[in-house]
Amino acid sequence: MDRAPGAALRYHPRTMEVRDSHDRPLRSLRVSVTDRCNLRCQYCMPEEQYVWLPRSDILHFEEIAALVDVFTGLGVDKVRLTGGEPLTRKELPKLVAMLAAKPALADLALTTNGILLAEQAAALGAAGLRRLTVSLDTLDPVRFRELSKRDDHARVLDGIDAARAAGFRGLKIDTVVMRCVNSDELPALIEFGKGKQAEVRFIEYMDVGGATTWSAETVVSRREMLELLSARYGTIEPVIETSSAPAARYRLPDGTTFGIISSTTQPFCATCDRARLTADGVFYRCLYARDGFDLRGLLRGGAPPEQIASALGSLWRARADRGAEERLALRERSALAPKGDLRNDPHLEMHTRGG
Ligand code: GTP
Ligand code: 5AD
Ligand code: SF4
Repeated sequence: MDRAPGAALRYHPRTMEVRDSHDRPLRSLRVSVTDRCNLRCQYCMPEEQYVWLPRSDILHFEEIAALVDVFTGLGVDKVRLTGGEPLTRKELPKLVAMLAAKPALADLALTTNGILLAEQAAALGAAGLRRLTVSLDTLDPVRFRELSKRDDHARVLDGIDAARAAGFRGLKIDTVVMRCVNSDELPALIEFGKGKQAEVRFIEYMDVGGATTWSAETVVSRREMLELLSARYGTIEPVIETSSAPAARYRLPDGTTFGIISSTTQPFCATCDRARLTADGVFYRCLYARDGFDLRGLLRGGAPPEQIASALGSLWRARADRGAEERLALRERSALAPKGDLRNDPHLEMHTRGG
């Protein structure tokens, strides 16, 4: 910390809700706690080497907590910790405890690839983490190695069991579905989820930064996934609910529910209430935004929380982003950014702005 965190930590403003230019509130904040990851998934980080954010730029926990206070003052009541792989960040339960103590946060969740979960689940639960989503793209260890370039499938499965043993309920399992890679595993993953009392969500393969080999042919659409699953299970009913969450939920004849996140073919930008904060304190208004806003500079330059809140409020009011819808409107669609652009600006990477 370059300045005493005290002043910012004592900031308890009355919430002043802000709405963007499409009348969307700011409710949900995804905080990336590190850009590093211990897997090399084909759809996110296919290279072995990356340009990492300089260590001195990575926000300290006190700085993250101070920024979260500013965001809650503008209406945020949900925080999700992401990365990179968030569990590679040292002493993460300390940050969880700091955030869990904030009454303004109704929801505190974490997305992980599960590799370090067996070691950390109990500490995360004790620190006050409420919800966990584990990424799991395949049930086949050989496929796992092909997809992620690491041999850690068993550790992920152990992580899921450890989370249950640590008392986490309402676990979610996220699967990015890619044609001819894992699209034959949808029923098997649903059955796996049933056995673990976890809700499986299938995610359409997105052309985010990092997905450098993305092609439209590899995307399995929500429609196609539902067809595949109906062929196996029979009639699938939509679960009727109103929410700004990206997953549409469905129910199988036996009552099992699952979700589909159709960011690619049926984006949910119209109700998107989420902001992103990178590990080095850059604020993004959209997953696809080209430019972000450096909050670290303001914070470390000694700006009082009111000034940061005012800057953030103006940025949110001016927000017009509908990144996924704009991508869908393109006639010719290929990877979002060429590798050279990603090397020059790591902030374009999904692992930097939060998966
Ligand atoms: P909860 O509903 O709070 O459990 O979380 P969530 O549905 O937001 O799920 P999560 O944060 O785990 O996100 C699931 C996946 O949805 C991500 O891994 C992305 O693939 C996709 N996704 C997440 N955020 C965005 C976003 O801002 N825009 C788009 N287009 N897709 C997103
Ligand atoms: N398409 C869809 N989801 C992605 N993620 C990362 N890259 C992509 C992509 N190209 C999300 C997935 C994964 C998490 C780490 O980030 O949900 O489980
Ligand atoms: Fe929100 Fe941008 Fe994702 Fe659309 S693409 S849902 S605006 S983050």
